[in-house]
Amino acid sequence: MRLPIILDTDPGIDDAAAIAAALFAPELDLQLMTTVAGNVSVEKTTRNALQLLHFWEANVPLAQGAAKPLVRPLRDAAYVHGQSGMEGYDFMEHQRQPLEKPAFIAIRDALMHSPEPVTLVAIGPLTNIALLLSQYPECQFNIRRLVIMGGSAGRGNFTPNAEFNIAIDPEAAAQVFQSGLEIVMCGLDVTNQAVLTPDYLATLPTLNKTGKMLHSLFSHYRSGSMQSGLRMHDLCAIAWLVRPELFTLKPCFVAVETQGTYTAGTTVVDIEGRLGQPANVQVALGLDVDGFRAWVAEMFRLAP
Ligand code: BDR
Ligand code: CA
Repeated sequence: MRLPIILDTDPGIDDAAAIAAALFAPELDLQLMTTVAGNVSVEKTTRNALQLLHFWEANVPLAQGAAKPLVRPLRDAAYVHGQSGMEGYDFMEHQRQPLEKPAFIAIRDALMHSPEPVTLVAIGPLTNIALLLSQYPECQFNIRRLVIMGGSAGRGNFTPNAEFNIAIDPEAAAQVFQSGLEIVMCGLDVTNQAVLTPDYLATLPTLNKTGKMLHSLFSHYRSGSMQSGLRMHDLCAIAWLVRPELFTLKPCFVAVETQGTYTAGTTVVDIEGRLGQPANVQVALGLDVDGFRAWVAEMFRLAP
């Protein structure tokens, strides 16, 4: 039995690698993809997501989501992923269109029609998930759990303390973290370790057409470099689904700072239990890096 998942994403070059894994890891059944504004505008993330689905000839429905965070203006990460959000590869023209309903309604419909609970995976800002939970709390019963790439128990990568996905929409993240959903957080504590080595990256063009395409995108990705290795942040959320034994998790109380002048978007991870609050998040704090790399190599080989 494959695990049914819905993937909310803002492609994004590391998102593209995670989408490959969601499509080609044999353990997973990708039922719906939704896009959100984050790395670039939602028009661009939707265009990128459709190009990837077309590239892989995948029949997965896609719905476009929120164009901006709940209350703040969008700040993007074109400096990491390029102006298009997926710089470096010329994708073929196609006629694919997103569904005629917004992401949070498409997710609601998928959840309400699913005969079994579905795992939500969110690898961009949490805007769509917050909208889903506030507008349609009745569908929470059919969410198996939410696995996110986001946050950090230590330093940030967007502000000194805040990780990009949480920093872009802290109000959404705060709402989601307080929702009572079972949440697994793959933050920078593990994703900064999830580095593909220069030697491995150099082998990608000979692997298959997916390897060729990813190698071109990776050459334009700025979370690391082809010379020093590349951080596969979003791929960690998918890796946890299929290889949970590679991760060390700790149940913690996690609050999202929404007020601080310098700290908005920080995930305050109470590892020592100093605040005396019940744990609301399973926080990934450790990663078997060699095991992760072996899984990535195995999974990319399965792609066309
Ligand atoms: C996260 O920020 C984005 O730029 C990446 O796609 C990833 O989701 C890493 O902080
Ligand atoms: Ca992302």
